[in-house]
Amino acid sequence: MGSVLSYFVRDPDDHVLDSACGLTGREKRLVRETWSVLRVNSINTGVAIMTSYFKKYPQYHRVFIAFKDIPVDELPANKKFQAHCQNIMSTLSNAFDALNDIDLMEAILHTAGERHGRRGQTRQQFIDLKGVMLEVMRDALKMKFSPEVEAAWGKTIDLAFSKIFEKFEDHAA
Ligand code: HEM
Repeated sequence: MGSVLSYFVRDPDDHVLDSACGLTGREKRLVRETWSVLRVNSINTGVAIMTSYFKKYPQYHRVFIAFKDIPVDELPANKKFQAHCQNIMSTLSNAFDALNDIDLMEAILHTAGERHGRRGQTRQQFIDLKGVMLEVMRDALKMKFSPEVEAAWGKTIDLAFSKIFEKFEDHAA
């Protein structure tokens, strides 16, 4: 109810641009509200993102040594895969919860950037994941995924991934 109401009720911070993260108060609120829906069943959301990603980009499935030999359709029931998806969701939740504290968000995502950079992950792999994340959000949020919500998420994911990329060795990769 609260989230439906808040589409209509104005918040005094709605039009205030937070120069640290590049989002307005309203954009941050839309991100928080929609993420709160997606995180209720975070394993399901994480599994939906990663299985869609592997189906669309089989070459990225092969990057995951622990999962590369398991057919995509068997992954949702695999507890190790569920645990991996939950790890991803926790990192994302910690980062999105820190939209009002950009230094904290940066610290969370720099750690992820260091680990993924060390393993040789590329910017393109993340850019492709962004598209899949938006598709899964659209499916899950249905009418709530308005063009405005989608734009707010586009900015938020770009921000988060830019922090990860800061720790990649080859910034042009
Ligand atoms: C939303 C963006 C992502 C988040 C938040 C994320 C988060 C994580 C976390 C928390 C781990 C476990 C800790 C670690 O070893 O680093 C992990 C592992 C890993 N991630 Fe990501 N990840 C993301 C995107 C990607 C992408 C785009 C790829 C490449 C296609 C990738 C490849 C891997 C691999 C290969 C591992 C190691 C898995 C294993 O232990 O077997 N990740 N990720």
